[in-house]
Amino acid sequence: MSGATRNLRALGAAAAVTLMACTVAVAGAAGAAPASQAPLKIGIIGAGHIGGTLASLWVKAGHEVLVSSRHPGQLEGLVRSLGPKARAGTPREAALFGDVVLISVPYGALPQVGRDLKAELTGKIVLDTGNPYPQRDGDMAVEARRKGTGVSSAEFLPGVRLVRAFNAINSGDLASEAHRSGERIAIPLAGDDRQALEVAQRLVTDAGFEPVVVGPLSRAREFDVGTAVYTRLMSAAQLRQALGLKQSR
Ligand SMILES: NC(=O)c1ccc[n+]([C@@H]2O[C@H](COP(=O)([O-])OP(=O)(O)OC[C@H]3O[C@@H](n4cnc5c(N)ncnc54)[C@H](OP(=O)(O)O)[C@@H]3O)[C@@H](O)[C@H]2O)c1
Repeated sequence: MSGATRNLRALGAAAAVTLMACTVAVAGAAGAAPASQAPLKIGIIGAGHIGGTLASLWVKAGHEVLVSSRHPGQLEGLVRSLGPKARAGTPREAALFGDVVLISVPYGALPQVGRDLKAELTGKIVLDTGNPYPQRDGDMAVEARRKGTGVSSAEFLPGVRLVRAFNAINSGDLASEAHRSGERIAIPLAGDDRQALEVAQRLVTDAGFEPVVVGPLSRAREFDVGTAVYTRLMSAAQLRQALGLKQSR
């Protein structure tokens, strides 16, 4: 029921997450910034097409972001355009900063990010947008596609509370379709951690899309590159039907 106000239960304080257990009212009106309580601190590793766009959408929704780069000075313009709720830093600083960490890097960089930031990321809710492309990422991408990205990313990011998210929409559509009028575009999610999925759903809603939980990480492959739902801009009902999921209402 697009456009209706809906209540999402925010994640209770757990592990390193500093969220208050509370009910959040999310304004679903087209174009409106959601009025979520208890803004989150979101660390963004990889502030490119997807990470930069999500940083902007989440700042507009009231969250605080730390966008990161291996060359943080290059993010000055982005941070200026995002305003006081944004700052720039290194990937390590982003991992430390975030209640939630978005990792949006070329898939081939995921093993190194997982190794280098293991201590900082352990126990954190991590949203992973990466898609493996053999021509860009090499042989590891062939293996990741074979296993499915949910299983593969979990191997590269041990110890995190992982959710596959925002991998099945193009960055241009992410920018242009956010908070669109009428039925929102669905974003498929997969994860094994219930609370991490709740936070991911909240962040999809706050970005202006409709979350659809497909299932555990093992089902992330159902919306990987090359599937029938990948980048198709479906409504939640269409996505659920295409994936054989129960309709929510
Ligand atoms: N573009 C799309 O439409 C789209 C859609 C869905 C999913 N995806 C997937 O999402 C991921 C990000 O895509 P994108 O298009 O946003 O990529 P992008 O524009 O190329 O940005 C990737 C970012 O990753 C950072 N990065 C690269 N290597 C890194 C490393 N070793 N450690 C830390 N940061 C590193 C880069 O930052 P610095 O070089 O500044 O450090 C860069 O800003 C990819 O896996 C892609 O396949 C993309």
